[in-house]
Amino acid sequence: MCGIIGFVGREEAAPILLDGLERMEYRGYDSAGIAVRSETKGLQVKKCKGRLRVLSDLTHGGADLEGTLGIGHTRWATHGEPNDINAHPHVSENGQIALVHNGIIENYLEIKEHLMKLGVTFTSDTDSEVVAQLLAFHYNECHNMLEAVGRVLRRIEGSYALGIVCSDYPNALIAARKDSPLIIGYGENGNFIASDVTAIIKHTRDVVYMGDGEIAVLTADSVDVFDDEMLPLEKQHSTVDWDVSAAEKGGYAHFMFKEIMEQPEAIRKTVSPRIREGRVVLDDVSMTAEYVRDISRIFIVACGSSYHVGMVSKYNWERLLRRPVQVDLASEFRYSDPLVDEHSLVVVISQSGETLDTMAAMREAKRRGARTLAIVNVVGSSIAREADDVLYTWAGPEIAVATTKAYSTQLVLMDLIGLYLADLLGTVEKSEYDAILAEIQALPEKLQRFLDHFEDVQYFASRYFNHNSIFFIGRNLDYAMGLEGSLKLKEISYIHSEAYASGELKHGTISLIEPGTLVVALGTYAALFDKAMSNVVEVKARGAEVLAVTTESFREKMEKTADATIVVPDTHPMLQPSLGVVPLQLFAYYVALQRGCDIDKPRNLAKSVTVE
Ligand code: F6R
Repeated sequence: MCGIIGFVGREEAAPILLDGLERMEYRGYDSAGIAVRSETKGLQVKKCKGRLRVLSDLTHGGADLEGTLGIGHTRWATHGEPNDINAHPHVSENGQIALVHNGIIENYLEIKEHLMKLGVTFTSDTDSEVVAQLLAFHYNECHNMLEAVGRVLRRIEGSYALGIVCSDYPNALIAARKDSPLIIGYGENGNFIASDVTAIIKHTRDVVYMGDGEIAVLTADSVDVFDDEMLPLEKQHSTVDWDVSAAEKGGYAHFMFKEIMEQPEAIRKTVSPRIREGRVVLDDVSMTAEYVRDISRIFIVACGSSYHVGMVSKYNWERLLRRPVQVDLASEFRYSDPLVDEHSLVVVISQSGETLDTMAAMREAKRRGARTLAIVNVVGSSIAREADDVLYTWAGPEIAVATTKAYSTQLVLMDLIGLYLADLLGTVEKSEYDAILAEIQALPEKLQRFLDHFEDVQYFASRYFNHNSIFFIGRNLDYAMGLEGSLKLKEISYIHSEAYASGELKHGTISLIEPGTLVVALGTYAALFDKAMSNVVEVKARGAEVLAVTTESFREKMEKTADATIVVPDTHPMLQPSLGVVPLQLFAYYVALQRGCDIDKPRNLAKSVTVE
């Protein structure tokens, strides 16, 4: 949720830290801070409430802080309101230690009370300050930083990525992680730690992913990593292969818009390497046909938009595999005593690969003997590393908080996996298999066709942007797609919105429809189009204004009833959500733009949810 960065090297640290924080601001953006150490000025800390630009102005772009060793933090508040004092870095009472933290310390109150009894005074309401004070306490006991860090890590419970600077160690940056992402970057002019590759890609592509329980000591020329027993580790290096420009706006007003426009290419990158000679090839999956035949139930577990991908896939996979497929919210699944065993396949979907609930659900599934397959975008993320099998979505870095291209690539990858499994099980006719695969390959071109002319979406957004409540209705795949359209709209435009399975309307919700209520009616699912139309007629009869999304085949019928119609190209019915969701993303985008919302960084949200 928060973003942390650290640098130790031969350049001024503050500008590097501020630049890295700016690239990570999507992770959290209610306050920010940096601490830099120099021989002459010692430890200098600047932190404040508000966006990063406030901190940047406060420090004159970092020029006010001197030194080549430092840490920085952009915050998404969990403990204590967003204000100057609760912002990181936190400094121990004696001014010796400054620390940035991402995660949650669950037993912080107990430690805080203990330290207070010993006379330590706290200034903030955060769990993170407790770590700084505890560290200073142990350091003053043993006078060895590494030993003190070890003692602290044995004492604290919860999740953490930590960046630590101590005034007694003028050339060393210390890092530790458990259940919160942290990478080490090896640069020419120094070394880095960061929550996310985007923060340091400008300086290096040579990275190491820290594992749980590991501690690292970085200097300008060396990096030493230790396990939780302080034994040295040989870490495997990875090379980040995407370009710096992938994490920059490149002339677009917002990352979200850029990422919407990147979807054809992102889908192409996800699909192309996985189709050879007319067949789906999943080289990274080690499941045998025998194993797949033995699967009695498939679970798809995820949060938010990734869960919505699961909703679409449930319909598609059950149709293709003739096996029960259950889709669960990770936050519910993990505590539901799930009926998972060694005959279960548990598929977890996560763009970030760090969502705590999804990770915990996956661990629970593994504990019960299930095999886990992770669909992840961020290479080397925690979920990717812990799953039995992992398939990457190759969407490239997604910076806007509201997901678009990651969602689309998850969707198409799930379609590929569905086909692959159906083929192993022999539950799909060859002609059907070929037809679906051909249409999957045609998706980028069809999507591009739509993205070349979407002026009508922009127009409808300006017509409807001042509605206070918007309903999305649809059946089957259209319902699943509506869930995503509704979430996109509410998260970035702050308009109240709900998605309903059309057939459910008359069981209660239709009472909310009154003259002028905007209903976004989704009519792309051919098999139930006529039924969906009856629901459109029902809401129209109660005075609703209907904005419809349909396919070229149904344009004429839809235009007769709806007040406004957006048309997407036809494809195989199973794949229609891949095209239908795009106008919903654009609609949300333009509505938010009209309302003057902060599109890339909507209030109260963060890109990667590493707390429960
Ligand atoms: C919405 C959105 C979130 C995420 C959810 C899960 O636009 O991005 O709902 O889908 O927080 O995140 P991941 O996929 O990283 O596990």
